[in-house]
Amino acid sequence: MTKIRAAITGVGGYVPDYILTNQELETMVDTNDEWITTRTGIKERRILKGEGKGTSHMAAEAVKELLKKTNTDPKEIDLLIVATVTPDMPFPSTANLVADMVGASNSFSYDISAACSGFLYALTTGAKFIESGTHKKVVVVGGDKMSSIINYKDRATCIIFGDGCGAVLLEPTTEHVGVIDSVLKSDGSGAQYLSMPAGGSRIPATHASVEANLHYAQQEGATVFKFAVTNMAEISAEVMQRNNLTSNDVTWLVPHQANKRIIDATASRMGITDDKVMMNIEKYGNTTAGTLPLLMWDYEKRLKKGDNLILAAFGGGFTWGAIYLKWAYDGK
Ligand code: UT7
Repeated sequence: MTKIRAAITGVGGYVPDYILTNQELETMVDTNDEWITTRTGIKERRILKGEGKGTSHMAAEAVKELLKKTNTDPKEIDLLIVATVTPDMPFPSTANLVADMVGASNSFSYDISAACSGFLYALTTGAKFIESGTHKKVVVVGGDKMSSIINYKDRATCIIFGDGCGAVLLEPTTEHVGVIDSVLKSDGSGAQYLSMPAGGSRIPATHASVEANLHYAQQEGATVFKFAVTNMAEISAEVMQRNNLTSNDVTWLVPHQANKRIIDATASRMGITDDKVMMNIEKYGNTTAGTLPLLMWDYEKRLKKGDNLILAAFGGGFTWGAIYLKWAYDGK
């Protein structure tokens, strides 16, 4: 029997209009443009403003653009997955809300929580529904409103993160394109180094939890950095090896955008030159689950059918992974 694969047949994206520059951050915390640029590669990030607007707002905008570009009737969507760690609320899931907002009334929908690796987890899961033959049109969204959980008095975190969302459409194909292979990992012993401690069942919201800043993302940056460099490089090399890919075979590395130094280390380990590395950290910072689909959104015009992409990420959990994806259409 011919193998069914899940091909990405379109990409949509949304970033808010408000631009938070390094210069503005200089007025908020003890930092400077030179430190942020040389240590992270970030110049600016987008921030979602407006009362009552959560991650679903950005996700719905990204999905609406995706449906328009791919000429898809929302009622044809069978499944909609949202990867996020900043859901609108603990329940219902943000995916439920987004499906309603875009008119995907025949889909079932759910969220995936895997921080910066969320899009890799969601893409892999969505692809399985296509490969099994049970679902024909699956929308996979990755996005976060990180500004909702960032303490803008903490210079260790506020300079890194931004808001944004991307979405892809998955459809079946019998051609040798689409999601070819994925390696995903997690290690909960890393939770202590990167988390948002309160607001869940362990520490429900109280005056004390708010006063102790426990509803903000907290990160032991240097420790996470070390794990990220090692694991992202190793897992990218592993997915290349498993698929007999040399650095010459890889058209694009699509790396999570947490820190330009982590990206450079991963590319160097894979033997991949800068011109083959997708990069948008300078203008969006780290958008957590939004990063990987936003990269494909930004670079879509330059992609050609048959291009070999390696998607790689490392993030809170710890979670990490890499996907070998063969691009399915010529960008236009
Ligand atoms: O996306 C999810 C996964 N997250 C990541 O992959 C992030 C990984 N971590 C990082 O990207 C980096 O660790 C950071 C960008 C967060 C921090 O960079 P670093 O090079 O690891 O800095 P550090 O925390 O080791 O701090 C070095 C120095 C310290 O000063 P002293 O003790 O050497 O005098 C910090 O106090 O830089 C200082 N510092 C700052 N200075 C100006 C820390 N943050 C800032 C800042 N502006 N924003």
